[in-house]
Parts: sequence; structure tokens; C-alpha cells
Amino acid sequence: MVPLPPTATATDAQPQRLCASTDLLERGRAHAFDLTWHGQTVPAFALRFEGRVVAYLNRCPHVPVEMDWQPGHFLDQDGRWILCAIHGAAYEPANGHCVAGPCAGRRLQAVRVLEQDGAVFWWPQAPLAQPTRSESSPVTRPVPTRAAPPPEALP
Ligand code: FES
Repeated sequence: MVPLPPTATATDAQPQRLCASTDLLERGRAHAFDLTWHGQTVPAFALRFEGRVVAYLNRCPHVPVEMDWQPGHFLDQDGRWILCAIHGAAYEPANGHCVAGPCAGRRLQAVRVLEQDGAVFWWPQAPLAQPTRSESSPVTRPVPTRAAPPPEALP
């Protein structure tokens, strides 16, 4: 049993093991998992960046689609930014903020995680923020695209 951190509340229920710490290499492949968000099963991912595990819904704020170039590959070639494979939005891995692309100024939906005793845990019962209007309804108009690196160029 993992003790709850000081910020946890009784309504968060108990954290569940997501993966081993060693499964998440620095700026490496992400660990994919599913969660329920507003009644829907939604893919999510966890990865390690600058030593810390972060997790987000695998759902671009621009258009609600999965963002990985290949399964589990979210970071650019330098391992600096999370990139959306569809239109190339760039996100700060540490906090999910979009710094470039069609959804600049918005952010990825964070999932609460904790690393402890060689494992990564998450809170399936912890509520996530409500989706914004544009996150809950797809964008239908065309948007400028940025050339994506070829899959063979990924690490
Ligand atoms: S769908 Fe992600 S940037 Fe457009």
C-alpha cells in the first residue's frame, strides 16, 4: 500500500501501480494506459522528463486525437518537446503547456502520478479538469500543417 502524499484527500481513493520506475527511461518511450474521462475510455501516457514522471491524456487540445508518432513515442528527436503528430503542436513536457502550433497557450490534460519505491502510481479516481468547449468538440476546418519528421528519424 502506498501512503498518500500530503496533498491527497480521502476522496482520491487509493493510488494504483502504473508501471515500474525502470520502465520509464529519461526522455524515452512513454508508458501508455487508458482511463475513464467524462464517461469515455481515453488513452493516456506517462513519461520521464528531467528525472520526473509526468502523465497526460493522449489527446491533443487542438483536435481530440492521439498525438504519438508511433505507439509510445511523443518526444521530438532531441527529447525536448512533446509533439503532436497531426499538426506539430509542441508541448512543454514538464507541465503540458503548448508553446507552438495551432493550440499555443493551451495545455495537455495532466494525470496525477507519483513515483515511489521503484514504481509509478496513479489515481484512477482522481477527477481531471472539465474539458473546454473546443476540447470536447472536434475542429472541422483545415489548419496549416507542419512537416512531421519521418518515423525512421525517431530514436
Ligand atoms: S491535432 Fe494536434 S496539433 Fe492539430
